[in-house]
Amino acid sequence: MPVITTIADLKRLHKRRTPKMFYDYAESGSWTEQTFRENTSDFDQIRLRQRIAVDMTNRTTASQMIGQDVAMPVALAPVGLTGMQCADGEIKAARAAEKFGVPFTLSTMSICSIEDVAEHTTKPFWFQVYTLKDDDFMQRLFDRARDAGCSAMVITLDLQIMGQRHKDLKNGLSAPPKFTLASMADLATKWPWGIEMLQTKRRFFGNIVGHAKGVSDPSSLASWTAEAFDHALDWDRVAQLMKMWGGPVILKGILDADDARKAAELGADAIIVSNHGGRQLDGALSSIRALPAILDAVGDKVEVHLDSGIRSGQDVLKALAMGAKGTYIGRAFVNGLGAMGEKGVTTALEVIHKELDTTMALCGRRDVKTLDRDILLVPEDFEGRWCS
Ligand code: GLV
Repeated sequence: MPVITTIADLKRLHKRRTPKMFYDYAESGSWTEQTFRENTSDFDQIRLRQRIAVDMTNRTTASQMIGQDVAMPVALAPVGLTGMQCADGEIKAARAAEKFGVPFTLSTMSICSIEDVAEHTTKPFWFQVYTLKDDDFMQRLFDRARDAGCSAMVITLDLQIMGQRHKDLKNGLSAPPKFTLASMADLATKWPWGIEMLQTKRRFFGNIVGHAKGVSDPSSLASWTAEAFDHALDWDRVAQLMKMWGGPVILKGILDADDARKAAELGADAIIVSNHGGRQLDGALSSIRALPAILDAVGDKVEVHLDSGIRSGQDVLKALAMGAKGTYIGRAFVNGLGAMGEKGVTTALEVIHKELDTTMALCGRRDVKTLDRDILLVPEDFEGRWCS
């Protein structure tokens, strides 16, 4: 058994064990991948202030996200096709999150359905929706999430049309994979994945197939998004969707202070500063660089969370010390899942927790809830001077 000490270790195993089209799906950004790269490299620019001779006993990473207790303020982000990274992937990830005490967010584009995940977990999870044209389908998704006991709705606002990820087109991404010469040659080297997949019935988009009307190719994410997503989305529609759900709401995909103000005005319980992991608007700022201006605009009005670029507990600490109340990992947990299923997700959470806890201690702090800018060394021009 390899010794796993970082998320990068899990990523290497993930790449070895999972069909190329699904590994590439997770590890891609749109177009030139500039934003995808800067999401991580901008975290690296921030340094930490080492402190000594400070009591580091009785440390805690426990906190709250939207009033819910969390073992550390790190939720699992909604990630499409998670059940293709390994058989029953969403169920495995949700179980790992539940045992660890952090929120799991199920994507609408999951393979396991809302009901599947609810049946195999015991605590409420969060559900994520896109903004779709079909009101009946939206209402049914909300009703199904409510019936399954979901305790928050994450509404994604930055994907009305899909950013182009070149590899998905070149690989012919679909769920389940279509049998071509290239995909069969690749699958032949990933046979343990194939054997597990043959043993589950969950190989299709579980929230969509059999639920949404007029889907021309139910195996293609690209064609479903092109057909079903609401290009006319505006803030009135966001307010309407929040009302249709009627419970705690987290608005995801905010990268601009004006948009953050609007989201706060609508009464969101939290916003997620996010550029969709660099998968949508290539050339957009990294989330960590966009965070300070958004905190200045709405930090006292709405809970601010951050995703995109987090690959370590040190990144989590940097985001929290900047002022975020919660963070999300997407690729980091998917790497664990692709590497070794539920155990891999647990390992990813353990790695991140250990890095967060140790870094906090060496910065002279004991409670994750009290982290602040004082422990960070941020380059003077970090936010940049951009003209428009
Ligand atoms: C879906 O949200 C994706 O980024 O593929």
